[in-house]
Amino acid sequence: MTDKLNNIPGYIDRLRGRNLHLNQQHPVGLVKLTVESWLGHGFEHFDRLDPVVSVAQNFDSLLIPPEHVCRRTSDTFWVDSDHVLRTHTSAHQAELLAGGHRQFLITGDCFRRDEIDARHYPVFHQIEGVRVGGSADDLLATVTGLMGFLFPDCESRVTDSYFPFTDPSWEIEILHEGRWIEVLGCGMVHKQILQNAVVEGPAWAFGVGLERLAMILFGIPDIRLMWSEDPRFSGQWIGLHAGFDPKQAPKFQPWSVFPATTRDVTFWVPEADIDPVITINNVAGIVREIDLGGLVESVEMVDQFRHPKTGRVSMSFRIQYRSWERTLVNGEINEIQTEIRSRLNGDGYVLR
Ligand code: DAH
Repeated sequence: MTDKLNNIPGYIDRLRGRNLHLNQQHPVGLVKLTVESWLGHGFEHFDRLDPVVSVAQNFDSLLIPPEHVCRRTSDTFWVDSDHVLRTHTSAHQAELLAGGHRQFLITGDCFRRDEIDARHYPVFHQIEGVRVGGSADDLLATVTGLMGFLFPDCESRVTDSYFPFTDPSWEIEILHEGRWIEVLGCGMVHKQILQNAVVEGPAWAFGVGLERLAMILFGIPDIRLMWSEDPRFSGQWIGLHAGFDPKQAPKFQPWSVFPATTRDVTFWVPEADIDPVITINNVAGIVREIDLGGLVESVEMVDQFRHPKTGRVSMSFRIQYRSWERTLVNGEINEIQTEIRSRLNGDGYVLR
């Protein structure tokens, strides 16, 4: 993997292959089993498809336009000019349809360059459902039924949405702790996709993030915990099994919450990166590469301004450190901070 376009850091390679979705004693694997068993028989299950997919699979086959921002190297991990780490399980939809499959679930790890906070991690898991012959009413009954089963105490609502690969498209949100949270995207598979796969429509599809479901179901406050190998985390799910009643889902027991420490960093942004999303994802990418122990809890842009005379753009980021395992000492935080600053500097961000 020496391709010039390759932007996959070593830590991603280390997370690949953890296959949390296949671990039946892990919240992610448990939610997968629960979704599979609620949907019942009749769906084929694909959960070991290679996450390295072609650009055609991940984007073109889904009618995602060539200039779409999600294709940028600031958003997607590229293997080489023809391959990416899949950004969603939808990447496999078209080929499975063309291969004659009519009703199936795809589960796997997905990869995105993104911001750093309690709900985003560059590796996450999705489950995708496709049913040929299903109507829009059937789709909405299925996905709202699933949400009602998983979250019997939460209100849910359907909102209109947009995806290039479905028409019409919807999102399901659930009311959790006073906030509406998007949990699932879905819609009627676009006619063009069905035509390309030589399938008689209609067909519906949905895609849902397993971490998000698991965090709500089990009350897990921080997505980094999903990757923890601390037995105080992993020991909490032993004994649960496929088909457990979501009403009886155990709530995550924090063993202790250690204090957070924040540090700010301010810099002038290189001309090419004026789009704040690029800078946010780049800073997050740099932090992830350096913070291999996962001590950074969030990275937030707290200030941005354009110099009235020079036109240069300055941004400030607040980096919050906290461990689930222990209280951090200044020395280790300073070490990471120094490395972040020097990497930023090397990448053309002029520190202030
Ligand atoms: N692939 C979308 C995402 O990752 C989710 C999604 C939306 C999947 C609509 C679907 C769908 O199958 O029909 O955000």
